[in-house]
Amino acid sequence: MPVLRVEGVTRRFGGVTAVKEVSFQVHEAQIKAVIGPNGAGKTTLFNLVSAIDRPDEGRVLFRNPLRSGDAQIDLARTSPHQASRAGIGRTFQHSQIFEALSVLDNVKVGRHAHGRAGLLSAFLTLPRQRREEAEAEEAARQALQRAGLGDRAETEADSLPLGERHLLEIARALATEPGLLLLDEPAAGLNNEETERLAETVRRIRDDGVTVLLVEHDMGFVMEVSDEVVVLDYGEKIAEGSPLMIRSNPEVIRAYLGEDYLAEEVPR
Ligand SMILES: Nc1ncnc2c1ncn2[C@@H]1O[C@H](COP(=O)(O)OP(=O)(O)OP(=O)(O)O)[C@@H](O)[C@H]1O
Ligand SMILES: [Mg+2]
Repeated sequence: MPVLRVEGVTRRFGGVTAVKEVSFQVHEAQIKAVIGPNGAGKTTLFNLVSAIDRPDEGRVLFRNPLRSGDAQIDLARTSPHQASRAGIGRTFQHSQIFEALSVLDNVKVGRHAHGRAGLLSAFLTLPRQRREEAEAEEAARQALQRAGLGDRAETEADSLPLGERHLLEIARALATEPGLLLLDEPAAGLNNEETERLAETVRRIRDDGVTVLLVEHDMGFVMEVSDEVVVLDYGEKIAEGSPLMIRSNPEVIRAYLGEDYLAEEVPR
């Protein structure tokens, strides 16, 4: 059974149909990429899958494969908090890092969505809150380890290079122990070395059993890490398949990749 089933999803903003009757599935422990030109509806789609936003039509069915007892839920009828607790983790296209905090505290802040005691009571010292604090710290350290930042816990976040900032955002999402991880443009602005480290990290997370859905413009990265690719153009799905199939699909080349792409050497 798939982890995520996007079924006939439409989202309109006034006169703009940002996502139009889109359907696709993401299977367990798969890395799936969503690509397409600026304004194609990729972030809108992510907002629907993380229940930050609701579709006008369609269903977004999620079942967390890492918790076998959990029932399937419709994210179109769920709050962001419920979605997070159900096992949806995400990073954002625009950085959400708290510059003045340590790397570890940045991850713990994200994790507090998970605790019952909440962020405010983290400053109090009731037993349950102290226990949750200890659990949050342990979960945050593990998440940093998984993102390859185990040795950066005490570093101030604003001194991290961009590649590690993106890994920090991934660590924060991992701290909520997601079954499905959504990454919005994780390779944006990274150099080759940082992109390679990101690719290794994302594959390692997938190999641990986390299903990954990512949006990305860096085609070298997409072709290297993805098991499957979905292509959006003006809110509509115009293609879906393996990276190889997508790369040679005439409609995808016309709408997004460009004729030059074929002539270039296959990146990485
Ligand atoms: N909250 C909103 N209100 C009005 N229009 C919106 C809103 N969010 C997105 N849109 C519009 O919906 C369309 C899709 O935008 P979206 O941000 O999803 O694109 P994208 O594929 O993520 O683009 P990019 O590659 O630039 O990040 C655009 O035309 C955008 O202007
Ligand atoms: Mg976007």
